[in-house]
Amino acid sequence: MLQGRRILLVIGGGIAAYKSLDLIRRLRERGATVRPILTESAQEFITPLSAAALCGEPAHTDLFDRNLETEIGHIRLARDADAIVVAPATANLMARMAGGHADDLATTVLLATTLPILIAPAMNVRMWQHPATQRNLAALTRDGVMVIGPNEGAMAEAEWGPGRLAEPLEIVAAVEGLLARPPSPQGGEEQVLAGRRVLVTSGPTHEPIDPVRYIANRSSGRQGHAIAAAAAAAGAEVTLVSGPVSVPDPAGVRVVRVETAREMLAAVEAALPADIAIFAAAVADWRAAGEAEQKLKKDGGEPPPLRLALNPDILATVARRGEGRPPLVVGFAAETERVVEHAKAKLARKGCDLIVANDVSPATGIMGGADNAVHLVMKDGVESWPSLDKEEVARRLVNRLARMRPQTP
Ligand code: C5P
Repeated sequence: MLQGRRILLVIGGGIAAYKSLDLIRRLRERGATVRPILTESAQEFITPLSAAALCGEPAHTDLFDRNLETEIGHIRLARDADAIVVAPATANLMARMAGGHADDLATTVLLATTLPILIAPAMNVRMWQHPATQRNLAALTRDGVMVIGPNEGAMAEAEWGPGRLAEPLEIVAAVEGLLARPPSPQGGEEQVLAGRRVLVTSGPTHEPIDPVRYIANRSSGRQGHAIAAAAAAAGAEVTLVSGPVSVPDPAGVRVVRVETAREMLAAVEAALPADIAIFAAAVADWRAAGEAEQKLKKDGGEPPPLRLALNPDILATVARRGEGRPPLVVGFAAETERVVEHAKAKLARKGCDLIVANDVSPATGIMGGADNAVHLVMKDGVESWPSLDKEEVARRLVNRLARMRPQTP
């Protein structure tokens, strides 16, 4: 996919800058050419020489570089590529991009370009969570900039949370996604959800029985992940709370990984407020009552009794919140019979505004498959859609939700 593609890589400052060297290798392995620009603070962490050596291209650092101005020029740098990747994108670099500054080579090139841009933020947890950074993120997303990460995990300064640079291979996958987007001066999809916050749950949950065994289901996460990707492409600021899945993280989305239903509920609560909440996860209804601390032994006798406890209903909990209830709450209903009838009952029982219902009988191949045939069940009617691939279902759903008026609980 990246064979012959030209990437301009803007390397920002920060402890994660060293990972951009690995990113260069990964991009070049796939046949891309990479031209590096280092900000002044990036040079505190890595040298232009190491970036240039790995790229096999000169590294650019200065706006008023006499060689650059005569040989290439920053306007040409801003044009002679297929995409620009900013990794790591620091809080400061994001702020300068969002504000339209052009006070060094990196920001000048970013302002002078019409190329697709991907940023991979990396910073301290609190800097990432600060309203100013989140405002800048929303502005950049509205401008059509694609975002990958940051990931959650252990950070420098012995902290934990979102702020880690996405892994080089995740960035590579996002670059591929960026280059696959249909070219358009607006930056791809129509921005019908610009400035709106969308929360999506996806995937199964795993409920431990003991340290090595768990209860799970066949959900692949494909539909939920496609919805998160479509909402991001439509300009929303998206948080995806995902159970264990093997589908890749969608680009431009903040992903929070969880295992159990209780962890999913906590992550959902932490991600609120949202304008639209879409619960596509196949949450396990039950968990093992009292997870064994040690692996259960066979010991040749009777199998151990498996007692179950009820999991929290995440959708109903959020839909029935008084204060802070998202104005639009969407649930899914996977049924194997009387699909619409059951979905109508579920709409009332859970207190949500819309149920996306589908028939998951094994014969339909929907669970884990590529296509989906859904019915939108609302208080005032039902819309049945033809069988479409899950990405198309996601795009249509996002457009449909963007046109719906916020509901009152
Ligand atoms: O009750 P049922 O599992 O059929 O409801 C499906 C809908 O409820 C889905 O939107 C699913 O994400 C959500 N759900 C939930 N928490 C649960 C069970 C289901 O959020 N514990």
